[in-house]
Amino acid sequence: MLECLDNFSKKQALPRMLADLAIVHACAVVSLIGAFLWEATWLDGEATITLTRTLESYYVLRFLPLSLVFPLVFLFNGLYTRSRAYVGRYKSLVVLRGSGTAILLFLFLNFLFCRAELMPRSAVLVFGVLVGCGTVGARWLKTRLVDAAQEPVPGARASSEKMPVLVVGGAGYIGSLLCRKLLEAGETVRVLDSLVYGDFAIRGLRRHPGFELMAGDCRDIRSVVSAMRGVKSVVHLAAIVGDGACEQDRHTALEVNYAATRMMIEIAKGNGVERFVFASSCSVYGASDHLADEHSAVNPISLYAQTKVDSEKVLLEARTASFHPVVLRLATVFGAGYRPRFDLVVNLLVAEAYHHRLVTIYNGGQWRPFIHVGDVADGILLTLKAPLGLVSGEIFNLGDSRLNHTLAEVAEKIRRVIPEARILNLDNPDRRNYRVSFRRIHDRLGFRCILGLDEGILELRRSFERNAIPDYTDVRYNNQKFLALAGRGVETNRVQSRVMAAFSGD
Ligand SMILES: NC(=O)c1ccc[n+]([C@@H]2O[C@H](COP(=O)([O-])OP(=O)(O)OC[C@H]3O[C@@H](n4cnc5c(N)ncnc54)[C@H](O)[C@@H]3O)[C@@H](O)[C@H]2O)c1
Repeated sequence: MLECLDNFSKKQALPRMLADLAIVHACAVVSLIGAFLWEATWLDGEATITLTRTLESYYVLRFLPLSLVFPLVFLFNGLYTRSRAYVGRYKSLVVLRGSGTAILLFLFLNFLFCRAELMPRSAVLVFGVLVGCGTVGARWLKTRLVDAAQEPVPGARASSEKMPVLVVGGAGYIGSLLCRKLLEAGETVRVLDSLVYGDFAIRGLRRHPGFELMAGDCRDIRSVVSAMRGVKSVVHLAAIVGDGACEQDRHTALEVNYAATRMMIEIAKGNGVERFVFASSCSVYGASDHLADEHSAVNPISLYAQTKVDSEKVLLEARTASFHPVVLRLATVFGAGYRPRFDLVVNLLVAEAYHHRLVTIYNGGQWRPFIHVGDVADGILLTLKAPLGLVSGEIFNLGDSRLNHTLAEVAEKIRRVIPEARILNLDNPDRRNYRVSFRRIHDRLGFRCILGLDEGILELRRSFERNAIPDYTDVRYNNQKFLALAGRGVETNRVQSRVMAAFSGD
């Protein structure tokens, strides 16, 4: 329970605690007035005055101090640290659970310390219902108001008759930017996402006429079937992303990253989907001293990378004359985006340099290829538009040969943008090391990255200066930490588990 405090930020939580306290007091006042009006109908003038005084004294002397229980219980229920990452019915349930616990504790303390002056019984039930509705309703209203205030994405109005591009995992770091770029290009976009980390990255798109969100799990056969209806192209980004996040729950990682991909391939083919773009990772090359290209042997050294290798294989084998899979092996992504991830090396190092004046690197000599999140989205767009003959059944490393860097070089670049930061070199057992050739995507599709590390680091620094990312340690920005704290995020049902078991085997 104390884990809830790990992520506590006074600046973010205090206004919300005060708002909840105000809601609780408003509910108490309304229910006490209700109790007064109800009981006053049976009383004469003097008794009515006595009742008024009793209720007033109860409110000021008893209720006021005891009401502090509410924000405290909400805090320990994660309402000020985690709940922003929850959405829809699940969020309402979490808030209701917090309210229920707080009311019970409040009544218990009320009984323990002021037995002589209890809240009138007629008011207790009304108070409980009002607090439940008030806390859930206020959050619902806030979400609606924020949605309404969001600016629609500029650009061409997408035609509702156009076949949508389905972005599975479209609410994530890459997906939320890709959706915007697709809409700007005049495409109609449908997102299937279980919103593991919340919907905050795509909230601004909800009112766009060309955008449709289907909140659902890519392991759920019914959700996938309805999402694929009438779709021409699929971009599959949904995954438990990162080595640590996959180790957190290996079973779920296998289901989401591999079994669900297999299932989606079958459903896509059955629905006449023409192009299926899959986000794989350059981490499939594992530890290697050679420059890796698409012909190099893969060497996955983590479950995450293994699920990518296995998914690539089934996807490419599924190619037919009418079904055209494309595999993109992405370099390590950096840049701010709409759901910035601070479990990625460049983003994390910049955040630490800015906030703590320290860049800690492990095994500074290891090579990694990098790519800005905006360039990833552009690369995917290019793959969607390219003639089928150039991309069907192909693997492309998505990045730019100029963006292979050692971690020591990354640290040096960060220090140039944030000169106050000190570099600390350490050693750890992480032996991932790969330099990657991106010639193929350049030669065949003309792809080149527009943004380098320098621009990305500067962009992140500016985001911190503007306070656009008030707390980079918020679990919403860290897959592994989020999953450790919130569990799987979305529960599966029995049918879904059986379907996944069927697709997990060979
Ligand atoms: N970011 C990188 O550095 C990087 C590098 C290489 C490859 N990739 C690949 O790119 C893709 C997107 O990565 P990202 O950085 O945007 O990750 P992300 O974690 O930000 O996004 C993943 C999205 O998938 C959704 N999702 C997870 N499980 C789901 C499920 N069962 N059903 C439906 N939706 C689900 C999440 O809610 C989230 O919106 C992933 O496949 C990842 O492996 C990313």
